[in-house]
Amino acid sequence: MAIKQRDGFSGKFGVIAAAAGSAVGLGNIWRFPYVTGENGGGAFLLLYVFFIIVIGVPVMMSEFVIGRRSQSNAFGAFRKLSPGSAWWIIGLMGIVAAFVILSFYSTVAGWTLEYVYQAFSGNFAGKNITQLNADFANFTSGSWRPLFWQMLFMIFTAGVVFAGVQKGIEKYTKILMPVLLVMIIAICVRSVTLPGAEKGLRFLFEPDFSKLSFQGVLTALGQAAFSLSIGMGALITYGSYVRKDTPLLSTAVQVATTDTIIAILSGVMIFPAIMALGQDPAAGPGLVFVTLPGIFQAMPGGFYFAIVFFVLLSVAALTSTISVLEVVVAFLIEERKMSRGKATLIGAGAISIIGVACTLSFGPLKDFKIFDKTVFDLMDYLSANIFLTFGALLIVIYTGWKLGKSNFVDEINQAAKIPKFLSSTIVFIIKYIAPLAIGAVAIGAFFFEGLT
Ligand code: PFF
Repeated sequence: MAIKQRDGFSGKFGVIAAAAGSAVGLGNIWRFPYVTGENGGGAFLLLYVFFIIVIGVPVMMSEFVIGRRSQSNAFGAFRKLSPGSAWWIIGLMGIVAAFVILSFYSTVAGWTLEYVYQAFSGNFAGKNITQLNADFANFTSGSWRPLFWQMLFMIFTAGVVFAGVQKGIEKYTKILMPVLLVMIIAICVRSVTLPGAEKGLRFLFEPDFSKLSFQGVLTALGQAAFSLSIGMGALITYGSYVRKDTPLLSTAVQVATTDTIIAILSGVMIFPAIMALGQDPAAGPGLVFVTLPGIFQAMPGGFYFAIVFFVLLSVAALTSTISVLEVVVAFLIEERKMSRGKATLIGAGAISIIGVACTLSFGPLKDFKIFDKTVFDLMDYLSANIFLTFGALLIVIYTGWKLGKSNFVDEINQAAKIPKFLSSTIVFIIKYIAPLAIGAVAIGAFFFEGLT
C-alpha cells in the first residue's frame, strides 16, 4: 500500500520562520507592552525573560520532541506515544485552548485590518491623543464594522491553512517575518529619538520589584507562554512537520530569542512614545492603536510608516493565527478523517462563532460579565494565565516523567549530537525545575489573590 507522504517543512529555515511566525504576533506587539505597563515595567520584564529561558525553551523543546517523535497532531501524539493512558487530555485541552485564544485574538487581529484601512485613508492626520482615543473607542464599540474585519481575518487565516504546510504556512512566513523585523527597528529608531524618550526606556528597563504582585508573576509566566506559543500543542503540531535532520535545540533557542527580541523592541517602540505623548503606560489593550498613530501623524513620512506598520501587525497576527487554527485542523484531519478543506471550514467556522461574543464585548455586550470580566477579558485572561500555564505544566510533567529521558535525548540528538551535560541539564530542568516553578507561581497566584 502506498503511504501518503505527510506534508511538512522543507528545512530548518522553514521551521524557524513558521515557529517564529507563530511566536511573534499580537502577543509581542500588542499584549506585551500593555501587560508590562499594567505590572510595573522593568521588574516584570526581568521575570518575563527569566521565564522564557527557564520554562519557555524547555517546554518548546518538549513540544517539538512530542510532535516529531509521534508524527501526529497534538491530541493523537499522546495516544501514539502513550497508548492506553489518559495523557491525551493535554491534547484535548490544547484544542479547547485554541478556541479560547483564537476567539479574542481574531477580534484584535480584525482591529489591525481596520487600522490598515484607516492608515490608507490618512485618518490619523492632525489628530491629538484624545481624538485618537475617541476614534478607537468609537470603532471597537461598534458591531458590524469590527465583526466584518474579524471575519475577513478568519477567512485569510483559513486560506493559508487550507493551502497546506509547505505551500501555505512556510511560504508566507519565510517572506513576512524578516520584513516585520526591519520595520519594527525603523519605528524604534523614531520612538527613541522623540523628546523625553528616556523616561519610557527607564520605565521598561528599570526594575522596581515593589510593584510586582503574585498575580503579576503569574501574568509574566502566562505572557511568556503566550508569546512563545507554548502550552497548547501548536508547537507539537508544527514539531510533527519538522524533518529528522533539523536540530531541535538550536531551533528552539533561535525561535525564543527572536520572539524575545521582538517583544523588547515593541516595548522600546511603545513606551518612549507613550511618555513623549503624555499617555498612561498602563492604559491597557488600546495602547498600540492609539499611541502609535499618535507618533505616526507627527512624523515625516508618517503616512507611509502607519500603513506599513499596521500591514505588518496584521501579518504578524496572521502567522500566529494560522498556527492556532492548524492545531484544530490537524486534529480533525488525522483523528476525524476529514479532508483539509472540510476541517478548515469547520474549525474556522466554529471558532468564529465564539469570536463574535469577544468582539461584541466592547459594544453591545460590554455589560455582560462573567467573574467580573467581559467575554473578551475573560478569554484573554483564561488563555495565558490558565490554559497555557497549566498546559505547559502538564507538558513538562509528561516529558520528564512519562516520555522519559532516553526518548527525549534520542530525539533531540537526531540531527546533531549535543554534549551530554547539556542534554542532562535540559532534562533536569524539564523534570524538576520547570514543574516546580510553574506550580509555585500558579498556586501562589490562586491562593493569595484568587481569580482577579
Ligand atoms: N504567540 C502568539 C503571539 O505572541 O501573538 C500567540 C499564540 C499563537 C499563542 C499560537 C498560542 C499559540 F498556540
